Amino acid sequence: MKETSEDCWNLNKDTLFVKPQKKSPLVLRMVVLVFVMICIVYIFSVCSKQIGTYARPRIVDIQVNVIDQPCQSSESEIPYAHFPEPTTYSREECACTPVRYFVILSMQRSGSGWFETLLNSHQNISSNGEIFSVRERRSNISAIIQTLDKVYNLDWRSSASKNECTSALGFKWMFNQGLMEYHEEIVEYFNRKGVSAIFLFRRNLLRRLISILANSYDQKAKQLNGTHKSHVHSRDEADILARYKPEINSTLLIPNLKHTQEWTSDAVEYFNSTRHIVLYYEDLVKYTNLLHVQEFLKVPAMQLTSRQVKIHTRPLSDQVTNWDDVYKTLKGTEYETFLNTDYQL
Ligand SMILES: *[C@@H]1O[C@H](CO)[C@@H](O)[C@H](O)[C@H]1NC(C)=O
Ligand SMILES: *[C@@H]1O[C@H](CO)[C@@H](O)[C@H](O)[C@H]1NC(C)=O
Ligand SMILES: *[C@@H]1O[C@H](CO)[C@@H](O)[C@H](O)[C@H]1NC(C)=O
Ligand SMILES: *[C@@H]1O[C@H](CO)[C@@H](O)[C@H](O)[C@H]1NC(C)=O
Ligand SMILES: *[C@@H]1O[C@H](CO)[C@@H](O)[C@H](O)[C@H]1NC(C)=O
Repeated sequence: MKETSEDCWNLNKDTLFVKPQKKSPLVLRMVVLVFVMICIVYIFSVCSKQIGTYARPRIVDIQVNVIDQPCQSSESEIPYAHFPEPTTYSREECACTPVRYFVILSMQRSGSGWFETLLNSHQNISSNGEIFSVRERRSNISAIIQTLDKVYNLDWRSSASKNECTSALGFKWMFNQGLMEYHEEIVEYFNRKGVSAIFLFRRNLLRRLISILANSYDQKAKQLNGTHKSHVHSRDEADILARYKPEINSTLLIPNLKHTQEWTSDAVEYFNSTRHIVLYYEDLVKYTNLLHVQEFLKVPAMQLTSRQVKIHTRPLSDQVTNWDDVYKTLKGTEYETFLNTDYQL
């Protein structure tokens, strides 16, 4: 603001200096002086009006961009648009493609693996997987911050790294991977860096529990020719994995479901101040184009695809060994709906 008003003054000072140099009678000088004064008042008022309406945002924009980086982003995008400069390679023609940071916050067996393959099928989205599954990366907050910095500086190499211009960059983070433990520092980081959070939950926590038990069984049993798979790409493989029917400890069932619910609501509360959306797996299964997610990440809308095949598709009663126990335990409780909802796939 100051710069502009000084410009106005300089202009008028010039006029002032020029005029009196002419050797003219006193009256004429006075007339010129009055004229100049009127001009000053007029120009000054025009200048301040401009400052009030147009000049201010432009000046702020220019200052921010000059200080931060040579690439342009509009004021409303700050702090969400970034121009990372990776240390390991050059972004070249993509250097001025703004990058938005996101994180998928979820729990195991909630569809986040499938969700991430959908996102990664977009040419401008890179989601780097479950990077905090490695314990050392989350052993203390400085290890966490260091890892986050590396990921968001585009220095994390994974199968999701793109040759195309990445404009949305993220990874998935499970609640039990240091996220809840260090939530205060992490929220501060997310807000400072403008990281947007995508919560992904599963409504039917009973189905989630079955998926956990089946997956943990397969870690030992390795049903697919001696290899363990958490996600599969063919119906045949899915059917093999779905053959296993776990037994659910009915004493622990309700405490387990309650605990999961509490984590969910705690997480949403902790991360409430971040820019975020909450998604449910059950809804995504119906609307796999994820248009609202693409909009949230500000990427051009595209058709998304995943090769993953759903493992458990049969009615719940076919998937649990002790179905009668489970049914009796949940009947008449707030969790009763979990017994009834089946997918129409
Ligand atoms: C944090 O964890 C990393 C990796 O495990 C370790 O190298 C580092 O010494 C730890 N730092 C602190 C301050 O404990
Ligand atoms: C998406 O990627 C394509 C291919 O690299 C690139 O031309 C385009 O500018 C990118 N768009 C955005 C919005 O990042
Ligand atoms: C497992 O082995 C069978 C034959 O024994 C083969 O047809 C199938 O492709 C194998 N599957 C995997 C996942 O390797
Ligand atoms: C269920 O879990 C409880 C507590 O861990 C245990 O005491 C009980 O034996 C388990 N019941 C079955 C049927 O495994
Ligand atoms: C999140 O914050 C908003 C506004 O600050 C508040 O209305 C809402 O209840 C909060 N939600 C949770 C889950 O804390």
